[in-house]
Amino acid sequence: MHAKNIVMSVNLPINNEYDIVTIRKLVRQWSIELKFSLIKQTKMMTAASEITRNALIYGGGGYMILNKLTNRLRQGLELIVNDEGCGIADIDLAMQDGYTTGTGLGMGLGGSKRLVDEFAINSTKHGTSIRLAIWK
Ligand SMILES: Nc1ncnc2c1ncn2[C@@H]1O[C@H](COP(=O)(O)OP(=O)(O)OP(=O)(O)O)[C@@H](O)[C@H]1O
Ligand SMILES: [Mg+2]
Repeated sequence: MHAKNIVMSVNLPINNEYDIVTIRKLVRQWSIELKFSLIKQTKMMTAASEITRNALIYGGGGYMILNKLTNRLRQGLELIVNDEGCGIADIDLAMQDGYTTGTGLGMGLGGSKRLVDEFAINSTKHGTSIRLAIWK
């Protein structure tokens, strides 16, 4: 992996549904600024919605760091979604399609991973941090 540079960074709260709307708008705006294809714009917005909604529902809220990236070759968009909830006890299980402890379809984590180029979960019983990135 080449060294990555953060070109621009913003920290956004995730405390309610309105915050998710704001996050969706900003992810769309930055995706357009980076001249992502419509497909990549939509992928990034969908993944951002899923992961931030999880942070709100299961993590009791938190914050998202949105970064514009460059490496030697490309530009990208990175999201890091953090909460201080009880964490995901079994990440492999949570990643499986159809697994939910709530009322959802259990598609958010697995679906999001498939939409993006890079996806990583760190979770302890003190909180969860999920990083995802799409490159142009
Ligand atoms: N930030 C989080 N903190 C704690 N548990 C989480 C978090 N995110 C996900 N989980 C756990 O992982 C499970 C699977 O998440 P996923 O997003 O795939 O499905 P869902 O949210 O249950 O349903 P859907 O996203 O399809 O509406 C959740 O039901 C929850 O138990
Ligand atoms: Mg979900």
